Amino acid sequence: AKVGVLISGTGTNMAALLYAAKAADCPYELVLVASNNPEAPGLALAAAEGIATWAQSHKGMSRAAFDALVDERLRAAGADYVALAGYMRILSDDFVAGWTDRMLNIHPSLLPLYKGLDTHQRAIDAGDRFGGCSVHVVTPALDDGPVLAQTPVAIVPGDTAETLAERVRFAEHQLYPAALAAFVTRERAPDWLLGRVRALAM
Ligand code: GRF
Repeated sequence: AKVGVLISGTGTNMAALLYAAKAADCPYELVLVASNNPEAPGLALAAAEGIATWAQSHKGMSRAAFDALVDERLRAAGADYVALAGYMRILSDDFVAGWTDRMLNIHPSLLPLYKGLDTHQRAIDAGDRFGGCSVHVVTPALDDGPVLAQTPVAIVPGDTAETLAERVRFAEHQLYPAALAAFVTRERAPDWLLGRVRALAM
């Protein structure tokens, strides 16, 4: 399966997807890393790894026009799927509709808890015992689509949003490639993920 990844920042999740794809039996490959932020550090990393990149600032454009451009690049690159990886833009409904059941996102909370921003601080403030991360199918409502896979991450005494975020990031890097692989194959993935993916596909 050919996957386009959208990033806005560091791109460590994109890197995790990219390195996992180097395994000979990985069922997906990255065909494009695209960004609304030409300065995103992840772009240089992807380029150095031989992945096509595209970046253009969204500033001064309507959301619909910018999303149409991104869509065009993804399709020109031959992407069958889109993986959002720290893409800090709300997507237009038209864009989402064009990738129905073909677009995943990773979110740093145990959804449905803490959609949106500041997830780690909100989990700490609530006195939760666990934060974590979720991979979900993207639907028009923010961080709201069916959850494919999650990893809970214990909150330890003295955790700040930063220390918790760093630990959750390790979990994200394990979870996202596995969930994406499961999603694109629907059969070669481990059972613990496959159950959810099959249920979705039906
Ligand atoms: C991750 O925490 C992800 O869950 C969220 O944005 C962050 C992106 O980090 N959606 P990175 O750019 O992949 O390092």
